[in-house]
Amino acid sequence: MGNKTFSMIKPGAVHNKHIGHILSKIEEAGFTIAAIKTIRLSREDAAEFYVEHKERSFFGELIDFMSSGPIIAMVLLKDNAVEDFRKLIGSTDPEKAEEGTIRKLFATSKSHNAVHGSDSDASAERESAFFFSRREFLRSDEVITSIDKY
Ligand code: RTP
Ligand code: MG
Repeated sequence: MGNKTFSMIKPGAVHNKHIGHILSKIEEAGFTIAAIKTIRLSREDAAEFYVEHKERSFFGELIDFMSSGPIIAMVLLKDNAVEDFRKLIGSTDPEKAEEGTIRKLFATSKSHNAVHGSDSDASAERESAFFFSRREFLRSDEVITSIDKY
């Protein structure tokens, strides 16, 4: 069980000015934001990121949406990060998401569902490397060192 996950705040939630609220929920849930940036995905970037879904009926709509405006990309650290973050964001469809989850609070539909969370440790590694170089994020031991120092 790894201590890293990757997340994006999707274009709809950025457009609706939910960045601050979503980051607060993430930190309040015990995650350390180890890397963060704003970036605009091209259609090619979005298709590469979501390549596992390329045969699905919703793929075209997913690519259109994810390239429709800037996103916030993040690497998050916590014990059991992948599973705990999926719990924090809730079901893919906000109508099925539990009360208090990020998707329940901020998603407008199953397609426009506010945030992404990695589905495995291997995905977390692949997705983090897709957006960030090694020099762009803190490792978990560095987070502890920096807290001790300051
Ligand atoms: P994500 O990868 O974005 O964290 O979402 P997820 O694991 O909960 O869901 P996944 O099955 O991986 O689907 C990826 C994204 O595709 C869109 N989707 N739309 N209209 C639909 O039926 C449908 N199904 C999936 C969503 O944006 C979903 O987050
Ligand atoms: Mg997924």
